[in-house]
Amino acid sequence: FNQQDFIKKIAKVELHLHIEGSLEPELMFKLAKRNDITLPYASVEDLRKAYQFNNLQEFLDLYYQGAEVLQTEQDFFDLAWAYFETCHRDNVLHTEIFFDPQTHTERGIAIYTVINGLVRAKQQAFTQFGITCEYIMCFLRHLSQDSAIETLEAAKPYLKHIIGVGLDSSEQGHPPEKFQQVFAMAKQLGLQRVAHAGEEGPAANVANAWLLLDVSRIDHGVRCLEDEVLVKELAAAQMPLTVCPFSNVKLKVVEHLSEHPLPKMLQKGLAVTINSDDPAYFGGYLLDNLQACSETFAWSPLQIAQLCQNAVAASYASEQRKSELS
Ligand code: ADE
Ligand code: ZN
Repeated sequence: FNQQDFIKKIAKVELHLHIEGSLEPELMFKLAKRNDITLPYASVEDLRKAYQFNNLQEFLDLYYQGAEVLQTEQDFFDLAWAYFETCHRDNVLHTEIFFDPQTHTERGIAIYTVINGLVRAKQQAFTQFGITCEYIMCFLRHLSQDSAIETLEAAKPYLKHIIGVGLDSSEQGHPPEKFQQVFAMAKQLGLQRVAHAGEEGPAANVANAWLLLDVSRIDHGVRCLEDEVLVKELAAAQMPLTVCPFSNVKLKVVEHLSEHPLPKMLQKGLAVTINSDDPAYFGGYLLDNLQACSETFAWSPLQIAQLCQNAVAASYASEQRKSELS
């Protein structure tokens, strides 16, 4: 029995993937050339070498800089298409993708340029690969709530392409309560809600994202472990947590994968899913995360299958699609 092969072949679902974080250095250079932009790196190797971070903010600085090469609808198509090709290669059959419109609208790129490119790639991924996908529009928490509300207003003509809203970027100093109003507006519009919480920030952010933003998934959530009562409540409610092991190592949330609290989270009965976050920056896609964790934590095939099933259950796919994925 070949466990790595088993993990490759099992049907997988990804619930925490920033499309801007799937921009590989090779594509970044190609788009820079196409758009006549000079990158502050001599080569792909040079750029890769810069991918060493001491915390979330150091990563975000490079991630926003990298995103500047994305300018046209074709660029957004190419970005998403490259990710769907890796999904097809790795048997990821359903994916719920974050995008950050403000990263682009702040640079004068229209929101429809972003959405049109992403939606065209999604349609082609379905017809060519049978991969299904939903888009989740994230608000950047280092910007104001007014800016988030403006973004939600600008997205109104495209809501049929957006399953929900999320909250990402710098967690420190930008707690969930800052975005209560825009999340209430999103709920009124019938959108699903998720938020990054308890990645670098305290367990209170997990509790408040749940309580005040009324989210149906928590992105990361690893620091919930610092509050035992909260852990019991999250487990009892089977609130899905989209955990990103490689990300937590690269951003020094944990020192080494072997010290990751995943085993503890599973032992506490939390509804854990495994995800890649920003695979181009963190050293691997969903399959790589699953394979490394399975080695490090000696997971059984049954445990792997359970984690994959957790992601199916936590997804916003239709009941019909969920049964196909199970
Ligand atoms: N944006 C992209 N990746 C992120 C992460 N891991 N945390 C917060 N914001 C992000
Ligand atoms: Zn993330």
